[in-house]
Amino acid sequence: MKGSSVKSKKTLKPGTNSIALLQRKEKVVAKAVTALAPFMIDESHGSTITDVDGNEYLDFTGGWGCLVVGHSHPKVVKAIQAQAAKFVHTDFSVVMYESYVELAERLVKYAPGKHAKKVAFFNSGAESVENAVKIARYHTKRRAIVVFDRAFHGRTLLTMTMTHKATPYKAHFGPFAPDVYRVPFPNPYHEPLTFAEWERKLTGLVNPQEIAGIVFEPIQGEGGFYTPMPDFLPKLREFCTKNGIVMIADEVQSGVGRTGKFFASEHFGIEPDLICTAKSLASGLPLSGVIGISDVIDSVADSGIGGTYVGNPIACAAANAVLDVIEEEKLMDQAQKLGSMLDKRFNEFKSQYKLVGDARGMGAMRAIELVKDRTTKEPASEATLKIIHDALDQGLILAKAGLYGHVIRMLIPLVMTEEELKQGLTILEGLISEASN
Ligand SMILES: Cc1ncc(COP(=O)(O)O)c(C=O)c1O
Repeated sequence: MKGSSVKSKKTLKPGTNSIALLQRKEKVVAKAVTALAPFMIDESHGSTITDVDGNEYLDFTGGWGCLVVGHSHPKVVKAIQAQAAKFVHTDFSVVMYESYVELAERLVKYAPGKHAKKVAFFNSGAESVENAVKIARYHTKRRAIVVFDRAFHGRTLLTMTMTHKATPYKAHFGPFAPDVYRVPFPNPYHEPLTFAEWERKLTGLVNPQEIAGIVFEPIQGEGGFYTPMPDFLPKLREFCTKNGIVMIADEVQSGVGRTGKFFASEHFGIEPDLICTAKSLASGLPLSGVIGISDVIDSVADSGIGGTYVGNPIACAAANAVLDVIEEEKLMDQAQKLGSMLDKRFNEFKSQYKLVGDARGMGAMRAIELVKDRTTKEPASEATLKIIHDALDQGLILAKAGLYGHVIRMLIPLVMTEEELKQGLTILEGLISEASN
């Protein structure tokens, strides 16, 4: 991968080509379709995006976590081109193809646990979650679904209901889907609940014998990269087994190697009944999947789950190439390496700047939470917004997260060089230091 020429302290602004394109966009693209960066891309490679005016940016968002193998990885591009030249679409439910089967074979090997597993593919993260819920309901013949505080599962009617954050995801979009119950997510920074305390809250809300599935993100994504209390997920696994509940891991953001393991669930030694995967799976092409214990996923009758485009051949070819790259370039080891650098720097930020209330994460899935006051933990939302805005001027694209937009999260490509990571973190530190004065 070519190294970035991004230097700290430069000042970038959208040029005339971006401005002209943005004016065209404003006229014809729905207002709700907004973008973090105020420019349009010409091309991208590795961790660098070049805009239509020739400005270079370091991408710490990886297209919202879709690019563990980086932008336009040559092997992925080649696989897409080769597949497109052979056939673009059949609908797997009309005529089947090998790349779908191969991808399923590879994913069941990556999924933790000893039970035999099978896979069904879909298009988006939300679709995978929605289908996991359908499978859990079909399997248990129960209706209730349990979700967590700060969860993000998507924007369809059901997944929007399961998502926590009101604005912009839920406000004015009701009525919501029924039978969804929300409980706290025990985590060391905000809610260090014991499992017994958590269980009391749950059973006060809904009878476990009526719960079809509990859907959790092993490390919460959009919600702010919260990691659970260390014993929470193993105990949740026992609770689900005891009560006949389908345990569903939404690994749309935490999966595909980002945390240093293929699925974040592995860090906790658990075997979920169903795992949802998407985002980096096909390097941003629309592909998601549910990997499930065969007895659970096979309960659904013929054609009960599916869709016209699901498991598209180009997306499957891209995904198989993504897995090749992860294996050949040892990107999970790279996640650990980059993650250790991030962990060290973020903890230095925390000891140096009061604004940084917490530093957390696993592997390369790391974040800092910005607070106005370390005791009250009041969110420093405005400061975070300003840092993200000013970083763009210095050639760094950063992502925020959290119910109050006060968490800065890393969704870096795992092919990022140490030099690029250092450059980005230097810019970030400069801005944190300015915001702290
Ligand atoms: C954990 C999680 N689940 C589900 C989704 C929804 O995925 P999509 O936007 O592909 O529908 C996301 C997207 O950010 C996510 O982070």
